[in-house]
Amino acid sequence: MKWNRKYLLSIDDLSIEDIHEIFETAKSMKEILKRPIKKVPTLRGKNVCLLFYEPSTRTRMSFENACKILSVDTISFSRESSSLKKGETFLDTLLNIEKMGVDLFVIRHSSSGVLHFLKNFINAKIINGGDGTNEHPTQALLDAFTILENKKKIENLKIVIVGDILHSRVARSNIKLLKKLNANITLCGPPTLLPEEFKNLCVEIEYDLKKAVKDADVIYVLRLQLERQTSNFFPSIREYNELFGIKKEILKYAKKDVIIMHPGPMNRGVEIDSDVADSEYSLILEQVENGLAIRMSILYYMLA
Ligand code: CP
Repeated sequence: MKWNRKYLLSIDDLSIEDIHEIFETAKSMKEILKRPIKKVPTLRGKNVCLLFYEPSTRTRMSFENACKILSVDTISFSRESSSLKKGETFLDTLLNIEKMGVDLFVIRHSSSGVLHFLKNFINAKIINGGDGTNEHPTQALLDAFTILENKKKIENLKIVIVGDILHSRVARSNIKLLKKLNANITLCGPPTLLPEEFKNLCVEIEYDLKKAVKDADVIYVLRLQLERQTSNFFPSIREYNELFGIKKEILKYAKKDVIIMHPGPMNRGVEIDSDVADSEYSLILEQVENGLAIRMSILYYMLA
C-alpha cells in the first residue's frame, strides 16, 4: 500500500483497503515482537512527538514502544511542566515543537474535533490519540483486529457495545469501523447515556441488557466516564452496576463462545465485574498486546 495521507484523525480517513493493509502489516509486526531482539531499523531518522494533553497509559506507552521498536526517536510532552502553564496557547506550543524537527505528532486532547482545527496550521503528520468524546481511531483498529484474530471474520457478527455511549470516543470510532466491516451492532446503556439519535448510525438500540446480549458474539464494555459527566445521568453507581454491569450471569444469554472486550482503564465492580474481566471469555489484555502491533503498522504507513 502506498499511503500518502498526512492524517489519521478519524475512521472516515480510511478505506476498506487501508484497513485490511493495516491489519496485514500488524500481523508482520507481531512476528517482530516474538523475536529475542525486538528492534528493526525501518524508520530510523524519523522523529515523533507524543503530545498527551489528557492522561493515558495504553495509548501513549504503546505508541512510545512502537516507535522504539521501529527505531523512531520520540520526544514527550508533559502539560504540567510545559509553558502552557505560563499562558502559551496549545497552537503556539505545537508550532514551536514542530520547529524542533518533528515528523509526526500523536495527540490526545480533551476537546472534540480540535485536531481538525490544528491540522490547518502545521505541516507535520498527525495521529489522533483520542479527542474529547469524538474519536479514538487507533483503539477501534486494534479492537477490530482482535475480533478478527479470534472470530476469523467480522461480517454479520453481533457486537454489543454496552455502557456510557454518549461520552465515548471509543464507541464512535468502533461503530464507524465495525459498520464498514459489516458487523451488526447493538448499543445498550441507560437512556440518559444512550440517546435515540444514535439510531441514525444504523445500529440497534436496546435498553435492557439481557435482551441486548442475546446471542451476542462480542460484548464490548465501555468505561463509565465520570470525569466527562456534567450531571447525574443515573441514580447511583450501585444501580448502574446492577442494571448495566457485565456479570457472569449475563453471559448465559450470549453465544457460548462470546468474547468480552474493554478498551481500558476498567472500573472493576462498576461496568464489569472481576470474575468476567479475568475470565476465559476476556480478551482485554490481548487488546493491549495487539495495540502495540497495530500502532507499529500505522506508524509504518505514515512514516516509511
Ligand atoms: N484505551 C485507552 O485509550 O487507554 P488509555 O487512556 O490508557 O490510553
